[in-house]
Order: sequence, then C-alpha cells, then structure tokens
Amino acid sequence: MTLDAKTKALIGQGQDVVNLTAGEPDFDTPEHIRLAAADAMNRGETRYTPVGGTPRLKQAAAERLKLDTGIDYAPDQVLVSAGAKHSLYNAVMSLVNPGDGVLLPVPYWVTYPEQIRLAGGLIEWVPIAPAHKDELTVEDLERAVSKKSRGLILNSPSNPSGAVIGRGHLEEIAAFCRERDLWVISDEIYMRLVYDGVEAVSIASFPGMMERTIVINGVSKAYAMTGWRIGYAAGPRSVIQAMANLQSQSTSNPTSISQAAALAALTGPQEPVEEMRREFDRRRRYAVSRIQTIKGLEVNDPKGAFYLWVNMEPLVGRTIAGRTITNADDLALAWLEEAGVSVVPGSGFGVANYFRMSYATSMERLAEGLDRMERLLGE
Ligand SMILES: Cc1ncc(COP(=O)(O)O)c(C=O)c1O
Repeated sequence: MTLDAKTKALIGQGQDVVNLTAGEPDFDTPEHIRLAAADAMNRGETRYTPVGGTPRLKQAAAERLKLDTGIDYAPDQVLVSAGAKHSLYNAVMSLVNPGDGVLLPVPYWVTYPEQIRLAGGLIEWVPIAPAHKDELTVEDLERAVSKKSRGLILNSPSNPSGAVIGRGHLEEIAAFCRERDLWVISDEIYMRLVYDGVEAVSIASFPGMMERTIVINGVSKAYAMTGWRIGYAAGPRSVIQAMANLQSQSTSNPTSISQAAALAALTGPQEPVEEMRREFDRRRRYAVSRIQTIKGLEVNDPKGAFYLWVNMEPLVGRTIAGRTITNADDLALAWLEEAGVSVVPGSGFGVANYFRMSYATSMERLAEGLDRMERLLGE
C-alpha cells in the first residue's frame, strides 16, 4: 500500500515512473463487447435483473465453464456477482463459520486472508516449500492441516506467482480434500491465461469434487474487463443458494449493462482473448529471460497469469545506492526512489524476500523497467 501510494504520488508529480505493479490487463475491452453494452443500454436493459444474473448470462457462464473445465453446471448452480472478488466474498461468508480453519497457500492473493478474517475464520497458512517451485503440493498441505481445518482456498494460475498446479498434483490435492472432508474455493480467474501449452485444470473436475468445490471465475482478466465488475461462481446448489441470499440482501444484481457486456464476451468471438494471451506470452518470455540474467534475482518460469514472482534473497544484506537491503520492501523502495521503477514487494502476499512484477504493460515500458532495475543493482 505504501509503495502504491508513493508510486501514484510520484507519477502525479509528473515523474517518469515505470509502473510494473498492474493487476489488470493493459488492453482495452474488445470493441464488440463495448458495443454490446451500448446496445443493451439503448434497448432499455437498465432495470433490475434477477439477483443472481440474467438467465442468459448464467447459461453462458455454465457453457463457458463446460468448455474450460469440462464440468457440466446447470444455470441454477451459477451465481453472477459484481466481480470475482464479490463472488469470493459471497463464498467465504457462506462457507466459513467463526473458528473454522481455512487452509491458505502462501504466497496468497491479498484479499483471501482478509475475507477469511471478516468471516471470523482461522487462517491456516500453507507455505509452499521452495523446492516445489511455487506449485502447491499435498506435502505442503499435510504440514498445515489440523483438526480445525474445514476448507481450502486454491488459486491456480496464481496471483502473485503465476504458478499453475499440474494435473497430477491437483489430483492428489483433490484426494486429500475428500479424505479430510474439506470444501474448496477454487479461484480460476486466470485460467484462460496459460502458456507453453500448459493445461489449466479445475480441481472440481475430479471425481467427488464438484460437490465440495465452489469454482470462481469471471470476465475481468481474460477479456480485459476489470472495470465492468462481473464475476461468477459455480458449485453445489445449497451453497450457491446461500450465496444468492446474501447477495440478495446486500448488492442485489450486478449492473445490468455489464451483464450484457459479459454475455457478449462469453458468447462472442474468442480471438481477442487469444491475441492478448499471445502478447502476454511474448512479454513473459522476454521478462523471464531478462530476470534470469540479473545477478541476485531468481525466478521460476511462471506458466500462467501475467506476473513474475521473483526471489531477491541473494541481495539481502547488500548496500544499494547507500541503502542496506534487508528485504523486498527495501529493494522496491530503492528501485522506486532511485531508479523510477515500481514493483510490489512480497510482504503483501506473505513472503518478505520476493517481489511481484507485472508484465501487463507495453513491451517498451517493460524493457525500460527491467533496464532501470538492472542498472541500479549494477551500481
Ligand atoms: C487471484 C484473483 N482473484 C480474483 C481477483 C478479482 O477479480 P475481479 O476484478 O473480477 O473482482 C483478482 C484480481 O486481481 C485476482 O488476482
């Protein structure tokens, strides 16, 4: 938060800061989606819709889930909300009772621990062993599970690490959840953004898992629609109904116009998704190859999302531009103040000696940012 405020303040003062902190695609929402929203407005689709989304959008989300995960959901097993974060909130509030243990892999996306706390749950941290190269395994879970454990929050591809959990490991995690009778919230918002032919698998697709898993997805990342606020959840009817009841008495339906746009996104041409994915991939390969040549930085080749999760531990204890570097917070601050490049230190994601850099920015700015990072370390 501090870094973010400082970055924005410096940019506001007119300083040239290369911002590699973005959590959203740098592309515009594809034109046919924007036009669909305008058409909906002009047709008068400006009134309340059913609380959990229009029947057509729920159907489209179910069809999209079938294509992406192979799972058959009926429309009444789907709930549309104001962004995937809202879907997650509804799920956590519906599933977590005070004192319930929730297994949370570390690094985690910042919102998960706060939502668990809001529900009064007990966070059971699951550090991913460095030897596992950012990929959660049952071995990590075994070390953290307790008698209080009731559920697990999974995020593959991951924010911040970009790691994708492979089919084999996921199958073992599924067996672990069945044996321990755990529910799973599986945040699959980056599922369409995977690279090098890697397969993104949903844990809900394994036997006996659909009944205990809430799948979270949405249009924000794949279709460059972060501002439209449409996400969806799919799972067992009883949980989806509880989530719908909560939504009914809090926000009601997500914006009608955004729902029309999301419908166009899910049912219209998918080429724009592939074009964006290819461009992300080009930048990913470039950024990984650059980081790998910078002394003191280490990165596992991430196969999903649009982030690199970089280990800076070899730099701990060094002096850079007159500053002693004790963790990634120090390094990020030095880069921002001395070199004009901004990354997110790992402390926000639960790990002090890593940072997240986003490649959701133009190739030119990415190259400039990496040059600046490298230059300061070289000095
Ligand atoms: C892992 C993860 N889940 C969910 C979200 C939230 O998505 P939305 O913008 O649809 O609420 C994000 C956004 O950064 C994310 O990184």
